[in-house]
Amino acid sequence: MSDIARYWDQQAPGFDDAPDHGLRDAAIRSAWASLLIPLMPLAPARIADLGCGTGSLATLLGEAGHMVSGIDVAASMVTRARVKAAAAGVNADFEIGDAMTPPWPRATFDVVLGRHVVWALPERALALGRWLKLLKPGGRLVLIEGRWWTGAGLTADELLAIVRAHGRRASVTPLRDADLWGGPVTDERYLLVSPPDRVV
Ligand SMILES: C[S@@+](CC[C@H](N)C(=O)[O-])C[C@H]1O[C@@H](n2cnc3c(N)ncnc32)[C@H](O)[C@@H]1O
Repeated sequence: MSDIARYWDQQAPGFDDAPDHGLRDAAIRSAWASLLIPLMPLAPARIADLGCGTGSLATLLGEAGHMVSGIDVAASMVTRARVKAAAAGVNADFEIGDAMTPPWPRATFDVVLGRHVVWALPERALALGRWLKLLKPGGRLVLIEGRWWTGAGLTADELLAIVRAHGRRASVTPLRDADLWGGPVTDERYLLVSPPDRVV
């Protein structure tokens, strides 16, 4: 097991204790649903969730009728994602995999989703180039990232530059709503969507 996988495996048991990770609180869950579901095409869309963690977003989108495929480098995250999705009765599949080298054919997905994952990758531009190839024509990249008070993360300007360098149009929306995070935030948290226009 790589050091990266080992690190995230160790995070898995307590991962969902963070309000925005586990989405256990109805108001927080509702805030994420209100943010993400309108960004998706009509259900059932095919969605890739790279670095899916414990599967909270995959399950949320599965409950909205979408078909989500998730990968994560950490086996303990994948196990938890499978259990969560099965308990919710949603149509989702999860496998252990490296987001640097996604295991799917090109032009497979309507949406490629990643929350709090791009920042953790060793070669972000290379990874995003590969992620974009997973999209069907007209498909959409949806990323939630941040530059957190801890000093970790990447800024919206940094991520925009990478996405635009791949020839994509993109827009960024700050995510300051306390309901998304379980409390007020003062650091930089944002949504990046490419293309910005509504996908039908
Ligand atoms: C901060 S967590 C976010 C999890 C999930 N996206 C969410 O929003 O709840 C980062 C996740 O990325 C995964 N990860 C980190 N590097 C990865 C890689 N190279 N390939 C796949 N997953 C990776 C970790 O195992 C972890 O589950």
